[in-house]
Amino acid sequence: EPLRILVLSASLRAESLNTRLALLAERLLTDAGAVVDRASLRDFPLPPYDGDVEDADVEDADGVPATAADLGRRIAQAQAFLIAAPEYNASIPGALKNALDWVSRLRPQPFKDRHALLLSASPSLVGGNRGLWALRVPLEHLGTRVYPDMFSLAAAHQGFTDTGDLADTGLQDRLAETLQTFLGLVEADTRYVCLERRWYEF
Ligand code: FNR
Repeated sequence: EPLRILVLSASLRAESLNTRLALLAERLLTDAGAVVDRASLRDFPLPPYDGDVEDADVEDADGVPATAADLGRRIAQAQAFLIAAPEYNASIPGALKNALDWVSRLRPQPFKDRHALLLSASPSLVGGNRGLWALRVPLEHLGTRVYPDMFSLAAAHQGFTDTGDLADTGLQDRLAETLQTFLGLVEADTRYVCLERRWYEF
């Protein structure tokens, strides 16, 4: 059975650098034998979370908008998910946090015990990495097994070739290796523990 991986771009922008990185990750995962479900936050328009909207119970049994239920189903159907997320003001985009909040209201809660790998791309030299540290907080709170290593592409506006590969071939090799190691840990259903600010598998 090949592993099924959801690859989600968390940018709403048509020309998104994070979507480009997500597409490259999709290709590398497919090469490594996984089955990829491609998604973008663009496909899941959601109102701002509002407990009154949820209580109104208008759309489905959980009172959660149908788009959030769809996203939750896509997460639940995969053994693992990748998120390629922009960094906004050293944190995660509001639209992504809003989607996490809506999906977290579903039962069973789709993020629990799912494996995740976090990616970011940014024109800046930090590559959006601070946003990924912020993204760990809600995901780990929700019980997602977030892979300790993260991949952030700096100067991403200059980082891709016409074929969608990384201009820096050494960096692309590193991304491919990270994805392969991640798939192995998903297969083994690994958990992680953080001790003295270093992550260990157990
Ligand atoms: C940004 N950007 C940005 N980049 C970064 O590396 N660190 C940051 O803190 C921020 N902050 C920020 C705030 C806001 C409101 C915007 C709109 C943008 C720049 C951002 O990385 C850039 O626009 C990327 O291209 C966004 O990702 P996509 O849409 O290309 O995937």
